[in-house]
Amino acid sequence: MKQKLLFASLISVLSFSAIAGEGMWLPFLLSQNEAALRKSGLRLTAKDLYDANQASLKDAVVHFGGFCTGEVVSHQGLIFTNHHCGYDAIQEHSSVNNDLLTYGFWAKNLAEEKPNPGLFVDFIRYMEDVTPLILQNIPSKLTDTEKALAIKSNIQSLIQQRESLRDLEYSVKPIYYGMQYILVASERYSDVRLVGAPPSYIGKFGSDTDNWVWPRHTGDFSVFRVYASPQGKPSAYHAENVPLHIAHPLKISISGAEENDFTMVYGFPGRTEEYLPAAGVSQAVDWLNPLRIGVRKRLLSTWDSAMRVSPEMKIAYASKYASSANAYKKWIGVNIGIKRTGALQAIAKEEAAVVHLGYEFAQNVKSINAAYEAANPLMASRELYAEVVLRGWELAGLASQLKGLTEEKVASAEFAAFLQDFYKNYNPTLDRRALQKTLAYWLVEAPHGWPSLQVPPLEKTQASALACMDGFLAHPKTSLSLYQKDPSAWWKEAQADPVMLWMTEYQSWAQTTLSTPLKPFLETISNGLPLYMRGLMQAGEGKDFYPDANSTLRLASGKVLAYSPADGVEYTTHTTLDGMMAKYIPGDYEFDIHLPLRALYAQKDFGPYAMPNGQMPVCFIASNHTSGGNSGSPAFNARGELIGINFDRVWEGTMSDYYFDERICRNVMVDIRYVLFIIDKLGGASHLIHEMELVQGHSGRTFVAPKKASKE
Ligand code: ARG
Ligand code: ASP
Repeated sequence: MKQKLLFASLISVLSFSAIAGEGMWLPFLLSQNEAALRKSGLRLTAKDLYDANQASLKDAVVHFGGFCTGEVVSHQGLIFTNHHCGYDAIQEHSSVNNDLLTYGFWAKNLAEEKPNPGLFVDFIRYMEDVTPLILQNIPSKLTDTEKALAIKSNIQSLIQQRESLRDLEYSVKPIYYGMQYILVASERYSDVRLVGAPPSYIGKFGSDTDNWVWPRHTGDFSVFRVYASPQGKPSAYHAENVPLHIAHPLKISISGAEENDFTMVYGFPGRTEEYLPAAGVSQAVDWLNPLRIGVRKRLLSTWDSAMRVSPEMKIAYASKYASSANAYKKWIGVNIGIKRTGALQAIAKEEAAVVHLGYEFAQNVKSINAAYEAANPLMASRELYAEVVLRGWELAGLASQLKGLTEEKVASAEFAAFLQDFYKNYNPTLDRRALQKTLAYWLVEAPHGWPSLQVPPLEKTQASALACMDGFLAHPKTSLSLYQKDPSAWWKEAQADPVMLWMTEYQSWAQTTLSTPLKPFLETISNGLPLYMRGLMQAGEGKDFYPDANSTLRLASGKVLAYSPADGVEYTTHTTLDGMMAKYIPGDYEFDIHLPLRALYAQKDFGPYAMPNGQMPVCFIASNHTSGGNSGSPAFNARGELIGINFDRVWEGTMSDYYFDERICRNVMVDIRYVLFIIDKLGGASHLIHEMELVQGHSGRTFVAPKKASKE
């Protein structure tokens, strides 16, 4: 029965009645959403948005480096993405004497644009539902393992067959827990050069304090250019490469969007879990998040107190701190939102509807829920171990990287660079201090509050972990100088290091005590979710379904919309430069504003980019359903003109990865008028503006930028 259901084509089951903010839609199925999209304000057709054979908006949207989104804004391959997406590239080109991160960078001509080995962008050529091709010939009596193998082999042959037809990159991805499969054909360009970036006081304004927060004033954008061979083909960096010609770059509207205006975001959201039963969401919210938050709170506050007193430490730990704090703050936001909106109750209602469909569905829900319940303490214990040891304790992180290496790999230039890099930003005293704090949480505080957690014995674990901090690997200078003299002697020493032995012992503890017992429960859950998904669709007939994010191209639509984050508090839709100036704290590492922007502000020198009331917009929010990976995504108005660059969500709304609630889920975008203002007036890069097509008004008539940056 289960098998038969798998083969049914689902597309006919899905109906798309109305498009609210919720949903990340597959672009090649948009014709089914067209009426609803047009009703909510879209002035284009589904084919204008996506067409495999004709020019469409999707041609100007790129997967940036595989982790963010970007959009093409000129015929010469000019690309916008976020500052935080281009951060590593900008940092790579920065040095103490030429600090592009701090002061920003604007290439004056093509020759000054900076190559970034390893960075690429993918253009999506077409997408297709290939479910029948993948699931068709699989006998129903196969075991789960056999079925997985058969699917894998079907995927491989399909890809081979497509490769023989056309020279593109192909991938096949499951959606709806493997009930359907989609094929993505894309083209990768790997000569992507840095063209410009605002200084960090703009691109990262508000830093961690303002991260995930509205009202926001971050100019989170950077500018790149895609290059191709002189024949216009993908090519690794080559001096002879030329800017990639793009037939239909985006038009950029300088008329902005107002509250209730239609918006859409086109990009590559990474991962969401919208179709878990209540017990699945509760596992994240009630078991995992509190423990993750508990560990990181101690880790981050230890790092922070060191960073505040030492400028050296500040630099060494800046990037680690930012990425660790990003997740920490998000988990807190998720829990706030889920509680505040009563999401678990809403999810439980949907679950009850599935149970009501009949015996098989009810039994399935029952066994999934029992598995979650049994898995919770083990999952939580494993997460705690992973947070403290693998993600928090830097030396153990190094040890787990070293495991599985060979002497040959250790001698490679790549490893030499990795080790240099690790030690450059590593302070053993700080690592020890943080470890003491997180160990106390792991072994004493957390199990005290959660008696069902499994942790290793306190005395022995604590003593042996701290003893690792006296080992060879915890001494950067000694370790590095031996490595530079004799990598093979270094490797011998490293393998005998206490932290390597410690890791071996505790990884095996985690395997035996946590992972092995967890396995049957996790299998029950993953085997049950496809039928649960099927039940949700059946129970919710007439409702909109969209697959969970999986790093494929999606369209989200919504509108510019205010929200109320808490009782008695109302947030409006736009922020302005006035608000940024009000946050200015001279010399502060998060809220400083350098003179050039203050001067432009004082002179109100906003060029044609100000709002009709004369204010300079900075950021705005809308009800588009986005996730991690949507950073850098183009935000469009109803005519498909670029009005902003997506970069974040509001704190209370980060729960949208589990449950989208239009009352508080908002995406945050930098207003494109601010982007143009910074490029033109602050960066003095008006030659870039002249590459772009600016439009204005409700009919999108062309705006001709003045030939010279005007100086009032
Ligand atoms: N929260 C955004 C995202 O998840 C922006 C992160 C970059 N900024 C930062 N302060 N860490 O990627
Ligand atoms: N900031 C995220 C990103 O980098 C976007 C989000 O999670 O809303 O993709």
